[in-house]
Amino acid sequence: MEVLEEQFDLECNPYDRVLTREELLKGVRGKEGLLPLLTDRIDGEVLDAAGPRLRIVANYAVGFNNIDVGAATSRKIAATNTPGVLTDTTADLAMALLLAVARRIVTSDAYARAGKYTSWAPELLLGVDVHHKTLGIFGLGRIGYALAKRAGGFDMRILYHNTRRADPEMEKRVGAEYVTKETLLEQSDFISIHMPFNEDTHRFIGAEELAAMKRSAFLINTARGELIDEKALVRALQDGLIAGAGLDVFEYEPKIEPELTRMENVVILPHIGSASIETRTKMGLVAAENLIALLVDGAIPPNCLNLEIFN
Ligand code: DGY
Repeated sequence: MEVLEEQFDLECNPYDRVLTREELLKGVRGKEGLLPLLTDRIDGEVLDAAGPRLRIVANYAVGFNNIDVGAATSRKIAATNTPGVLTDTTADLAMALLLAVARRIVTSDAYARAGKYTSWAPELLLGVDVHHKTLGIFGLGRIGYALAKRAGGFDMRILYHNTRRADPEMEKRVGAEYVTKETLLEQSDFISIHMPFNEDTHRFIGAEELAAMKRSAFLINTARGELIDEKALVRALQDGLIAGAGLDVFEYEPKIEPELTRMENVVILPHIGSASIETRTKMGLVAAENLIALLVDGAIPPNCLNLEIFN
């Protein structure tokens, strides 16, 4: 905010909540730049409501499924995101979720706090090992790769699947093996999703995929909730088709399938993948840099998602 205030006249969401559609459509009127959160849906209607002065939409997130980039491109409006700065923080959280579900950290904490810990016992709160297990990563991009690095420290075998195979050098550095979607589902003890959400990846994990997983496997999602068919996930957990899940994102967030909240083998977080003070500060600075590059310096914003508008 301080950086932006030096350069622009700012109008900010005054509420500690997401703007309603009406408030958003009204608030964008006449603006040259927008800095939306991932909870603000920026589509053609919003871009038109802003009017002809609008030149850039600088998202405060690496994921940009809340922005209709095609609509921005056709109006010659730049769209930007915040890649890079949240990679490690999000990978840390994916690893934390993985460890939490495997070792029943949340359940054990609640147990101890409830005063139930009366004596050490050989079978008290048994979880499963993480080390030397197989981790399947859907999406070996920046965050998937950072998770693979962490998993290496746990001596995990790493499988991955991408639409396009990663650079062999990159594979080699983290010992990741490229496999088909089917193989990854069948062989992994833990599966972590790190793909972008778009129309091709909607419900990438559904009933069929869940049924193909090991009954002892855990599913981790820190990417976008829409990548998993949440109702199918509930059924799979109820039927014991998989062992548990660690979820930071939800299909209809902030709504969460009530059944999930009642399951002891599911760890639920409120979309905090990038939520460290350092990283959220950096995300703000990156979004500000994108705005300043275009609107103050007349340069191409460093994280432009639709470079074609500058051709
Ligand atoms: C993102 O940036 O896309 C995350 O979901 C929030 O940091």
